[in-house]
Amino acid sequence: MASAHDIRKRFVEFFTARGHTHVPSSSLVPRNDPTLLFVNAGMNQFKDVFTGREQRPYTRAVTVQRCVRAGGKHNDLDNVGFTPRHHTLFEMLGNFSFGDYFKADAIRWGWEFLTGEVGLPADRLVVTVFDGTGEAADADDEAAEMWREFLPASRIYRCSAKDNFWAMGDTGPCGPCSEIHLFKGDVAPPDAGIAGRGPAFEDNAYVELWNLVFMQYEKHPDGTMSKLPKPSIDTGSGLERVAAAVEKVGSNYETDLLIPMVECARALAGSRRPLDRGEAPLRVIADHARATAFLVADGVFPDKGGRNYVLRRIMRRAIRHGTEIGLDRPFFHEVCAKVVENFSDVYPELAERAATIDEVVRGEEESFRRTLDRGLRRVQVAVGEHDRAAGTAFSPAVAADLYDTYGFPLDLTAVIVAEHGLSLDEAAAEKALKERQAAGEGNTNLGEERAVADLYFALHGELGDTTFVGYDSTEADAVVRALVVDGRAVDEAPDGAEVELVLDRTPMYGESGGQVGDTGTITAAGVTVEVTDTHKPRGAMHVHRGRLSGGTLRKGDAVHVAVDTARRDAIRRNHSATHLLHHALRKHLGDHVLQKGSLVTPDRLRFDFSHNRPITPEQRREIEATVAQMVLANAAADVRQQSMDEAKARRAIGLFEAKYGETVRVVQFGASIELCGGTHVGRTGDIGLLAIVSEASIAQGVRRIEAVTGMGALAHLQGLVELVDGTRTQLHAHTVEDVPVKIERLQHDLKAQQREVARLQQELATGGGGGASDITEVAGIKVQVRRVASPDAKALRAAADALRDKLGSGIVVLGAEADGKAMLLVAVTKDLEARVPAGKLIAVLAPHVDGKGGGRPELAQAGGPNVAGLDAALAAATGAIASLAG
Ligand code: ALA
Repeated sequence: MASAHDIRKRFVEFFTARGHTHVPSSSLVPRNDPTLLFVNAGMNQFKDVFTGREQRPYTRAVTVQRCVRAGGKHNDLDNVGFTPRHHTLFEMLGNFSFGDYFKADAIRWGWEFLTGEVGLPADRLVVTVFDGTGEAADADDEAAEMWREFLPASRIYRCSAKDNFWAMGDTGPCGPCSEIHLFKGDVAPPDAGIAGRGPAFEDNAYVELWNLVFMQYEKHPDGTMSKLPKPSIDTGSGLERVAAAVEKVGSNYETDLLIPMVECARALAGSRRPLDRGEAPLRVIADHARATAFLVADGVFPDKGGRNYVLRRIMRRAIRHGTEIGLDRPFFHEVCAKVVENFSDVYPELAERAATIDEVVRGEEESFRRTLDRGLRRVQVAVGEHDRAAGTAFSPAVAADLYDTYGFPLDLTAVIVAEHGLSLDEAAAEKALKERQAAGEGNTNLGEERAVADLYFALHGELGDTTFVGYDSTEADAVVRALVVDGRAVDEAPDGAEVELVLDRTPMYGESGGQVGDTGTITAAGVTVEVTDTHKPRGAMHVHRGRLSGGTLRKGDAVHVAVDTARRDAIRRNHSATHLLHHALRKHLGDHVLQKGSLVTPDRLRFDFSHNRPITPEQRREIEATVAQMVLANAAADVRQQSMDEAKARRAIGLFEAKYGETVRVVQFGASIELCGGTHVGRTGDIGLLAIVSEASIAQGVRRIEAVTGMGALAHLQGLVELVDGTRTQLHAHTVEDVPVKIERLQHDLKAQQREVARLQQELATGGGGGASDITEVAGIKVQVRRVASPDAKALRAAADALRDKLGSGIVVLGAEADGKAMLLVAVTKDLEARVPAGKLIAVLAPHVDGKGGGRPELAQAGGPNVAGLDAALAAATGAIASLAG
């Protein structure tokens, strides 16, 4: 019987034998597509090819695409672990035609692969086709007719758009589809003519194995649909489901794809796993480990907001299921390591990032467990604060808040409040939580990003990319191609307007690759636009933002563009310095250092990179020195356009995310060779100097360096010199070298004085004062009651200890005032603990100061706001001891 790994391989071979180019899976993080949270289908990376915006050297492709469906239009998260066939991450097998073959071949090959290649029983398969309802497209009689070659009409079901019209999202390519399902029932599948039966109605009797989409339309932001340039094919088949069908098991979790993780979780839980929970927690852990390992490998980190938050939810859900089955120490990283072990041969990026995955997962586990502990304390406080007079229903809003803020699970909150005689309406709490999360999703900026995407989508379709001439010059003549005012494309912008301008060519760099956009001026006869920013919202279309003055500007006007060169020069220095820094970091810290992000502005540069511990002062010195040597070597920039293979052969570093067939830009300064589209200095000497300003951790396994160059570096260093010199003056030191000696001496003196203060305080509390006269005898017990001057509870305890030791056998009762509050303390010698427990005695005295107290039998403390009651509390001591001693 074929294993899943086998099926994956055969799928690719089956379609390459039929003229398809094998294209690797793309990253889970969508490239240049703000309408998507995660890659959720094999067709995502071909979106622009379907619409005709992008050309490829092939018209047939086959992929095995890693997909995540957690959040957004296609969201399976809550089903995971509780059904046999839903996953957060899954592998989608897909074959694609870009205006090449259409329905007939897609249908034939789908059928042949399932029944012939992997041997599924033909009489157990049924298919669905679009019935023409629910979307503005015709019923697909054609597909039904084609299927008749393979199946009787009784197994061809007709369904509405809900099941048989597929769209990637609210916008993008779409079309009617036809699905192949496996019937799991005992007898034969019900006749397609019977109303209310079939895959669309009986969820558990069928498993959808393959979706064949007949791509013919594109949905637009305004809800309309237009025809694609050519009818195309997009198919998707879940590897996990096909494997379960081929391996004849009831659940995807019993296939070789997930067994290793399920078994790993089972072994870790061992005998601690309560049986009544069943397999669900193990399955959730197994599934989520797979998603976690792949997402981290693709550069997503658990954090607040957007896709980072989705990952955090996935991880925390898995960890909570772990705690439910008794896994009360960090375990999840071990399950993730199993994912790396089992999938690295197909997805080598997992092995490459294994150390990062381990680091990130461990870190999140530890911090989530601390969060859970804190949450537990918060639940207890919230229970204490609950107003019982108002009933026993615990506030759903508070429970939702506990979940949102502390990650504290609702079901656990319910159990704890129940222990205190309260009840939680979990459904109401969930509703409150959903509302909060819906509001929170607004914070992810996806909505805003989408609006921008919609606005420029059409413009880019019409105008295409802008020619960028800014590598070689900072001025150019150009023509206005589009004007945007208040989010609308206009033919003419009035004087004083905030405009966005698209030109045919520009020397202004559009923000990308971490480098901020250029500023400057765009002028035409009498008219000026002060450009405050340039960005590239879509492809390489440059959009200049600024205020128009001096008259109106029209589409088609000729303009002159001039970059603010002083600012651009500062940006160049910082960008080139980033490359030298990257090189120096890898040299001194190791090859695991990879760029995670960067920001290059005129004032400073920021560089985020993978590394899991702080940089030592010595490493920092070495890194700065290496950069300085490269600057002094004054190497000329060597910039070339090359093929990806040539760049790899030169061991260039950087994000290899260019599309198939594209050339890449390689920037070299001596030993530093990087893929980069940014603007750079002519020679490294132009950088002048680099100084690291700060270094810190920003996420598990990711650190951030901020640095300055040129005059900025000089100013930074001069500032430090001034600071040291100011300190020298304050310390009355002769030279800067004397400063540390002076500080050491001051610290030494300070410590000695602190010790002396403590000694005097104790003497004040225990010696002098009432002498032996404040010791009385009550019921045969020596009792010493005293009001003392003590600055804090610690000093009061020290005083009590000393008095108790002096007493030998007896009870010490002390009272003191500190910070406007009353403090009481009772110390009892060992032999008397049972007769007069300190905790009981303090409970009687505390109410005099309006306080509460408690403690152990030998030592108890209380505090209260009523200082005026302190003497009364002390006066009550002997009487209380008499009654307690009996
Ligand atoms: N893109 C189609 C799907 O995801 C094949 O179902």
